[in-house]
Amino acid sequence: MATQSGSAQVVLITGGTSGIGLSLAETYLARGASVAVCGRSAGPLERFSRAHPEALAIQADITDPGARIMMLDAVTARFDRLDVLINNAGTFNERNFATDPDATRGLDQEIAINLTAPIELTNDVLNRWADLTAIVFVTSGFALVSPTRAPTYGAVKAGLHGFAEGLRRQLAPNKIHVLELLPPATDTPMNAELTGKKMAPEAVAGITLKALDRRRPMALPGPTKLLPTMLRITPNTIKRSVAKM
Ligand SMILES: NC(=O)c1ccc[n+]([C@@H]2O[C@H](COP(=O)([O-])OP(=O)(O)OC[C@H]3O[C@@H](n4cnc5c(N)ncnc54)[C@H](OP(=O)(O)O)[C@@H]3O)[C@@H](O)[C@H]2O)c1
Repeated sequence: MATQSGSAQVVLITGGTSGIGLSLAETYLARGASVAVCGRSAGPLERFSRAHPEALAIQADITDPGARIMMLDAVTARFDRLDVLINNAGTFNERNFATDPDATRGLDQEIAINLTAPIELTNDVLNRWADLTAIVFVTSGFALVSPTRAPTYGAVKAGLHGFAEGLRRQLAPNKIHVLELLPPATDTPMNAELTGKKMAPEAVAGITLKALDRRRPMALPGPTKLLPTMLRITPNTIKRSVAKM
């Protein structure tokens, strides 16, 4: 199967109205790609459409099966194919099981957004475009070391990491590239309250596109670059420091 060049590609980015997803969308648009994004809130979608009238902005909640089909119908109607699916939409929930008796409040929704929906959407897309070029899963450095303040986030991202790894082997004979992006702390609305060093989302997007061009299995921007190696060499020290972030 031929790999489309960056400028000819049709790309669908979930959660493409903010943060890392928005930077990925703008990086692809700058390359001349055809881009579709989705999100739930009307305001950011309208802002995106005003800034990028050539792109397609779809109001869709990825946890809603009907909305996913409507979104893929909209991509078909506008572009008639899909080359790259980027499963980016996600949520971060702090939970303290030591002090909060209701620590599992909203857990089904967290699991649906971060784990079930990207798996379901991947299946929807493969059923429609068996010849697509690449599927990206945005997990996190916390997929490898779970954060103390958000253990369920670590759990669901580790789950998505496992899905991406197995799927990569399943789809290898079909030449579909499966890329996992593990961003470090990134300067987006998701962690606006976090102090300390954060990577620019534009830099995360640039590294992701390079990893896609080079057909790498993982994109490891900034501090996550050394994480897999450090986990092999000094697992306890690394786990202690990352888990505190
Ligand atoms: N920021 C970081 O430090 C960091 C680090 C590691 C990994 N990540 C991961 O990177 C990804 C992007 O994070 P971000 O920081 O860029 O987040 P963000 O700025 O909060 O953006 C999240 C995007 O996802 C959309 N979204 C959320 N739930 C959705 C749903 N159910 N259906 C459709 N769209 C939905 C949001 O739009 P609506 O709210 O309007 O739906 C928004 O466009 C996430 O998977 C996150 O876990 C982030």
